[in-house]
Amino acid sequence: MTKIYKTADEIDFKTEDAAPMPVPNRVLMIKPTYFDVTYVINPHMENQIGRVDKKQAYAEWQLLVDGFRKIGFDINILEGQKGLPDMVFSANQSLPYCNENGDRRVIMSIMHTKERREEVPHIEKWFRRNGYEIHHLDKNKVTDFEGMGDGIWHFKRQILWGGYGHRTSLNAYTEISKIFDVPVLALELVDERYYHLDTCFCSLDEESVLIYPGAFSDTGLNMIYKMYKHVIEAGSYEAEKLFAVNAVCPDGKNVLIQRGSSKVNKKLHDHGFIVHEFDTNEFIKSGGSVFCMKQMIW
Ligand code: ARG
Repeated sequence: MTKIYKTADEIDFKTEDAAPMPVPNRVLMIKPTYFDVTYVINPHMENQIGRVDKKQAYAEWQLLVDGFRKIGFDINILEGQKGLPDMVFSANQSLPYCNENGDRRVIMSIMHTKERREEVPHIEKWFRRNGYEIHHLDKNKVTDFEGMGDGIWHFKRQILWGGYGHRTSLNAYTEISKIFDVPVLALELVDERYYHLDTCFCSLDEESVLIYPGAFSDTGLNMIYKMYKHVIEAGSYEAEKLFAVNAVCPDGKNVLIQRGSSKVNKKLHDHGFIVHEFDTNEFIKSGGSVFCMKQMIW
């Protein structure tokens, strides 16, 4: 089902029509040994250079690892690399895929900024060792693509929600749709504070999503509302300052989220989700929280 959808009117299928995708059972995380803010590539990093408390960051990261373990996920940990302070955000260097036959593939990212490009080969090595079929985007056709920062799977379905405009260009999705043979619902990101789709769109279960509406165009919002029965909206304070939407719901039930987003947490609870709060304050200085700090894998 290869196709890029850019408006709600174009969407000619229902979620149930799309091929199933198994729920990931493992998490890939990178040790924050070299995590720091040493450059500014998003608005959240401004004035944060040199302000990361490394010990605190390590403690926050470790509690998140434990959190994934507690809800039943296997954790694979990879050492960070000196000089690559953002490598800890393991959602960004790749987009893994698995189909109902258990075929595992991965598309490696073309990072938008030169500061992060060297991270990709390290992650690629891990996927190669772990039996994934590796795909690269054609650099003549695709300018940039930042993995699961911008490409987010619809829960349990081979449908990709694709954010573009800041770190990923729309042209990436034509290639990705062909490689994985999946439909892509493309969402333009219109506010640079929400520079990745995962800062404003959190897939919860097949029928539910958590979003920050201000990050999307009306066209994009209409697509989201067409595909989801329950759209939970976060307010600007919790979305921007607490990264509430950069949460993860890896099993359709448990939501791991930055601590303190009481309004969002109440809404999640009212929809039947179990909320687990974590401190990711050191990572928010770099513009990332729970969702970016892990990669879901099979
Ligand atoms: N400093 C990193 C960057 O700007 C943070 C990435 C956070 N990841 C995410 N998926 N939002 O690239």
